[in-house]
Amino acid sequence: MAKQYSFPPEKMKILLLEGVHQACVDRLVQAGYRPELLKAAMSEEELLQVIPTVHLLGIRSKTRVTSRVLDNAKSLLAIGCFCIGTDQVDLAAAQRHGVPVFNAPFSNTRSVAELTVAEVVMLARRAAHKSQLLHRGTWEKSADGCVEVRNKTIGIIGYGHIGPQVGLLAEAFGMKVYYFDVLAKLPLGTASATASLDELLALSDFVTLHVPETPETRDMIGGAQIAKMKPGACLLNLSRGRIVDLEALRDALLSGRIAGAAIDVFPEEPKSNDEVFQCPLSGLENVILTPHIGGSTIEAQRNIGLEVGSTLLKFTEAGSTTGAVNFPQLEPPVLRDCHRILNIHRNVPGVLSSINALIAGIGANIRAQFLSTLGDVGYLVVDIDKEVSEVLRRSIDELDTSLRTRVLF
Ligand code: NAI
Repeated sequence: MAKQYSFPPEKMKILLLEGVHQACVDRLVQAGYRPELLKAAMSEEELLQVIPTVHLLGIRSKTRVTSRVLDNAKSLLAIGCFCIGTDQVDLAAAQRHGVPVFNAPFSNTRSVAELTVAEVVMLARRAAHKSQLLHRGTWEKSADGCVEVRNKTIGIIGYGHIGPQVGLLAEAFGMKVYYFDVLAKLPLGTASATASLDELLALSDFVTLHVPETPETRDMIGGAQIAKMKPGACLLNLSRGRIVDLEALRDALLSGRIAGAAIDVFPEEPKSNDEVFQCPLSGLENVILTPHIGGSTIEAQRNIGLEVGSTLLKFTEAGSTTGAVNFPQLEPPVLRDCHRILNIHRNVPGVLSSINALIAGIGANIRAQFLSTLGDVGYLVVDIDKEVSEVLRRSIDELDTSLRTRVLF
């Protein structure tokens, strides 16, 4: 039999691990919840001890939520990953158990945009190279190869959340902004879309990548694309490590075809700060290497806390699954003067008619109904004009297709 969830905030057990940001804690406390906080991550064995009674679990990147943990998560409603990645959770197992997993993919986008534009200026002035020299005792005061960015052209590949922010900041420096995206995107400021990637490469003094890693974007900048860039242009990648072929970039830097590069993400990245790092660009002149810190700021941490905290609340209080990485997405409206049934079920034929028959059985009028499916899981939200008795909730929950059923009012 599936399980029951519907109770007041103070009874909801929220466990936040790994020092989740205080902004999230404040948000939850304000809403009447009493989250339990731990600074450290939990091992699988530790989680197995506590998970049966936890309703909401908040983690960062170190706590692994395995399928064994999820098998025992009898009360779990949702998992919030207070970070960007969600690899630490067995997403398929969470989906099988009807548990949505949320993260905060866009909370750090401003941080990435700021670093990108700062690095454009650093590359234009060959400042990183001169700094390295000076650390070693060499005073190289010279204007050779150093330019202002004003009136130069920046080409942004991928105009999603980060791309337009880079464009606006670059525009404030007086740069001409072009972008290329596979989708039609509204230009911000005075930016213009190019018709093709090749056109953008040919126009730009600085090319910066802000695309996701997909089969199409893997190695999207290799030798052939670098050959289409302006001689002496610079390349920046603060997106994902496998998008640029670093060997091809190395050749272009050594030959002087490309004047500089700023790389924050790598095909292979150390798992911890204790590992030594090497890449084909190590030691090259006018190359800025940073350890995947594009989004790593205090402000981004706070935004992540707020964003995931709000997402968890929207799910528990209204049933919204927008942004869940493993789950059908639904954004039901704010609950007003009605009772809402939330049913997570196995995605097989006939679920809707069985549930509607049970609702009709109590003579209730359905005000609104939303259904979305993803893989083996379906998510149904039904607003009705009558109180949902515990008997009805239980009979829906006892359908052999049901995974979890809650009621909100
Ligand atoms: P987003 O998903 O909002 O935007 C990506 C854009 O790229 C979309 O508009 C999409 O249509 C476009 N796109 C996809 N395939 C394309 C292709 N083949 N050619 C041109 N455009 C294409 O992503 P967001 O938030 O702007 O992030 C961009 C990248 O930055 C992602 O890879 C993300 O993982 C990475 N990132 C890196 C961080 C760091 O610490 N360095 C921190 C945050 C994000």
